[in-house]
This record gives sequence, structure tokens and C-alpha cells, in this order.
Amino acid sequence: MDRSARFSASVPVPGRPAKATLALWRNILDSLGAAVIVLSPRLEPIAINSAAESLIGGAHPNAAQIHELMAANPWLAEMVSECLATRAEMSVAEARLIAGPQQTAVAAHLSPLLDDCAGLAGTVIMLLDLSYRYAAAQSAGVGNPEGALGLSPAGLAHEVKNPLTGIKGAAELLLGMLPEGNRGRQYCELILDGANRIANLVEEVLSVSGPQKLRLEPINIHEVLHQALRTAGVFPPEPNGIVIEQSFDPSLPEIAGDRAALERVFLNLVRNAVEAITPPGRIRLVTRMESEFHLNANGRKQHFLRVEVSDSGKGMSDDEIAQLFTPFFTTKPHGTGLGLVLSQQVIGFHGGKLRAGRSNELGGMTFKVTLPLIRSEAARPDHQPSRAPDSSS
Ligand SMILES: Nc1ncnc2c1ncn2[C@@H]1O[C@H](COP(=O)(O)OP(=O)(O)O)[C@@H](O)[C@H]1O
Ligand SMILES: [Mg+2]
Repeated sequence: MDRSARFSASVPVPGRPAKATLALWRNILDSLGAAVIVLSPRLEPIAINSAAESLIGGAHPNAAQIHELMAANPWLAEMVSECLATRAEMSVAEARLIAGPQQTAVAAHLSPLLDDCAGLAGTVIMLLDLSYRYAAAQSAGVGNPEGALGLSPAGLAHEVKNPLTGIKGAAELLLGMLPEGNRGRQYCELILDGANRIANLVEEVLSVSGPQKLRLEPINIHEVLHQALRTAGVFPPEPNGIVIEQSFDPSLPEIAGDRAALERVFLNLVRNAVEAITPPGRIRLVTRMESEFHLNANGRKQHFLRVEVSDSGKGMSDDEIAQLFTPFFTTKPHGTGLGLVLSQQVIGFHGGKLRAGRSNELGGMTFKVTLPLIRSEAARPDHQPSRAPDSSS
């Protein structure tokens, strides 16, 4: 395969770069497990890496083949034209890519390709093959993969992580080799930025083990919350301009939980609250017994505790709230949009619920987590349960 022809034409490093540098660029792109297809605004292929060639089934796809690909995949064609029209990044967590006789479940991420003068030079399509996910779900005995999170599993995350480390290392080396003011530095920074973003995403996916991997032990929810506050770097001491209020019920019984997984859930909620606030502001953590209960399969009452994380931040529009638990939904330049989805999954594995709403008291958002207590008998007589917590506000 004559890769150099493709990449020497497509990577605009100024001033005739050394052969070795070109080879490095090529290797970086070809080391990616994700398929990368770079198209001009007229949908001509500018660069295509090895993973993309395998995914779309053929070396050196030409403009006609790209047209066929778009015709067979209207969802992709629509995303490309929207990306070109709005210059916005966009993602889809799962879609079916049809390429000739081949159909593959993929996650897609599109970004605009900008030239040195911030002019639109095309679009960069990144496609992640999700078939690993199905294989992993089947081997783990998880019944219906369609019912899964809509994310790549740990297996895929590991596959992505290994070459990613190489890409980051190579881009850093390359950056060090280029003199100040060289335009190539910009491209290295783009690679590093993208690689760091993927690395964060992978870390988040890896940080949540499947249900079979949760290690439940009796835990005190306040220890978990304190650890999350410490890890978020907000208590103690409080950050400048943000007051952390804690209103805890110290008599709450223990829950059966995976300490590390729950710490990540509350860490994400606290971080989101901090990120929503332009100081001065306020974050309030409240714990209490949930006054409602579930009847479990044996007809016994299952009681819950509730944790609320509220903030005085900028809040969210109705549209944003509707997308809150959609994988990859983020309004942050370096967000992954996975924190809440994964948190909801972890809380669900524990038999609880994670819900969001506006905070009437503080003006920003409130995230409410309910978690079942270890023993239903642990409920105290002064709390008169009435109905299941998932139907409450
Ligand atoms: N407390 C909050 N206040 C305002 N918006 C929030 C809050 N928590 C989450 N969000 C919104 O939900 C989006 C998704 O959050 P999350 O899943 O944690 O991913 P990320 O933090 O990586 O963006 C955020 O980008 C933000 O727009
Ligand atoms: Mg987050």
C-alpha cells in the first residue's frame, strides 16, 4: 500500500518535511484504532487511515466511493453537511455503517478541519468500531447488547488506550523537535489535544467496571462524600469564592456499595457543580432518609437514603436537561459527556436512581441520588414510608 502518497499529499507540513517526519505522521494516524476519514468540503478524500480502509472495505477510496458511502449512510452524510455548515463538532454514540456488503456498529465523531487562517478546509470523521462491545457483552454473558450503555466496553477502551499512549508520546517528541513559530507545532498541539480528549474518555469508560465487577461492601455514605469532596479539591479547604454546605444526617444506616465507583459518581457531580459556577457561588450536599420505599420481590419494604448535590451555578435549559443522560452530551470544550451516563449506570447497578432537576433554592441544578439501605429493617420508625422513590420528584 502506498501510504506515503496519501499522507505526503494530505498533511500540509510546510517546507518539505523530512521523510522521517512524514513517516511519523503516517504512523500516528495508522496506529489509531479509530477510523479517520478527512474529507474536503466537496467530499473528496484528503486522508484516510488504515483503520478506515478496513472499516469501509478497500484501500485508497476515491471520491466516487466516498459518495457511495454517503449515499448508503444518510445519517453520516447529514452529519458531514451539518459539520461543514456549522463548523461544530458532533457525535453519535451508535449508528450502523453500511459499506458495500459490510455493516458495522460504530460511534462517530466529526470535527471541522480548519486551515491556518481558520478557513474551513473540510471535515474530520472519526469512527469507532463497536463490534468489540458486542463480543465483550456476549462473553460476559450480558444478555442483550442493545440494552447496554451505548458505549464501548473496557476491552475497546484498552485497545484504544495502548496506541493512544504511543500517539501522545510521538506528538510530544515531535513538538520538541520543531522550532518556535513553526506551523507544524500547531498540528502537534491539535494531535495532543485530541489524544488527551480521547484519553479522558477512555479513562472514564475504564473507570466504570461492569456490574459483575462491582465489589459491594457495607459503606457509610458520608465517608464517600467526604472523599469525593477531597478529590475534587473543594473541601477542605474550600476553593476561593465557593461555599460548600454540608447538611448530613449522621444517623443514616450503611448501604451496600462499591466505594470506588460511588466516589467517582459523587466526584463527577461535585465537579460538574464547580464547573457550572462562576464564583462567588454555593454547593450544597444534603443526605437524609428517603421517606418512600419499594416493595421488593419478597414483598418486604426496601428503604433508601437520598443524597442531593445542588449548586448556584448557571443551570441548564430544558433542551440541555433533555440530553443530560445522553452519551457524549457535553457543553464543555474538554468534556467527555460521559460522567452522568456512567454515574447513572453505577447508581442503577446499586439498585438506586439518579435524577436531575433545577434547584429552586440555589438557582442552579440539583442532582438527587437514591440508594437502597442494606436491610429494609434498618428504616427508623419516625420515617413513615409511602411510595417508591423513583416516582418522587
Ligand atoms: N451542575 C450542573 N450545572 C449545569 N450544567 C450541568 C451540571 N452538571 C452537568 N451539566 C451539563 O451536563 C453536561 C454533561 O455532564 P457530564 O456527563 O458530567 O459530562 P462532562 O462534565 O464531561 O461535560 C455538562 O457538559 C453540562 O452541560
Ligand atoms: Mg462531568
